[in-house]
Amino acid sequence: MTTPHLGFVHRYVPARRADTPTLLLLHGTGGDETDLLPLGEVLAPGAGLLSPRGQVREHGMPRFFRRLAEGVFDLDDLRFRTHELAGFVAAAAAAYGFDPRRVIAVGYSNGANIAASLLLTHPGVFSGAVLFHAQVPLEPQEAPNLMGVPVFLTGGRADPIVRPAETERLAVLLREAGADVALRWQPNGHTLSPREVDEARRWLATWMREEEP
Ligand code: MLT
Repeated sequence: MTTPHLGFVHRYVPARRADTPTLLLLHGTGGDETDLLPLGEVLAPGAGLLSPRGQVREHGMPRFFRRLAEGVFDLDDLRFRTHELAGFVAAAAAAYGFDPRRVIAVGYSNGANIAASLLLTHPGVFSGAVLFHAQVPLEPQEAPNLMGVPVFLTGGRADPIVRPAETERLAVLLREAGADVALRWQPNGHTLSPREVDEARRWLATWMREEEP
C-alpha cells in the first residue's frame, strides 16, 4: 500500500512456512518498500517479509534517517527514527500476527545502518540481523546486551561510501556487546554482489536450522 499504515508505507508478505521468522527488509538510499522483497525471498524462502519505506526524503530519495553530509548523520533524527521503527515492528507484529521475538533485520547501506542503530539502542527488537555494507551509525549511550545475537555483516574492500574501517568498527562494537558476528569481506565497492547475497543465504539457512522456534 502507498498510504502509511501503522505509521509507515510498507509491504507485508505473510510467511508461507509456519516455522520461519519474519524478515524486516530495510532498503538503501533511494529505494522503497518493494526493493528488497525479491532479496528476502532468496534469503529465506517462505519467510514472512515486512518491508517499510524510509520516512525521510533526500532530494526526493527515501531514506531511514537524515544525514548532514555523506557519512555524517543527524543523530537526533537517527535516534527518533530508530525509536519510530521499533514501534512500527511491534505494531506490525500485533496487526499481522507474527512473533515479535523472531524478527531478523535485513538491511542494505542506509537500511543496514538503521538496523545497526536498532541493535545498539533497542536490543531485543531483532533476534538476528543481516547487514550489508553497514557502518557505526552512532555510539550508544549505554552498552547494549546483544549476548548471542547472530549478526551477518558484509563490507566492500573498495567501498567508497561505507569505508572498511567503519564496518570493522561496527563489528567490534557488536562483538563487545556480545553479538555473534560473522564478518565477510567482498572485493567490491558499495553495490550488493551476488556472492554476498549467497553467503548470507547460506549463513541464514544454517542459523535458522539451529534456532529453536
Ligand atoms: C548512510 O547515509 O546511511 C550511508 O552513507 C549509506 C548511504 O545511504 O549512502
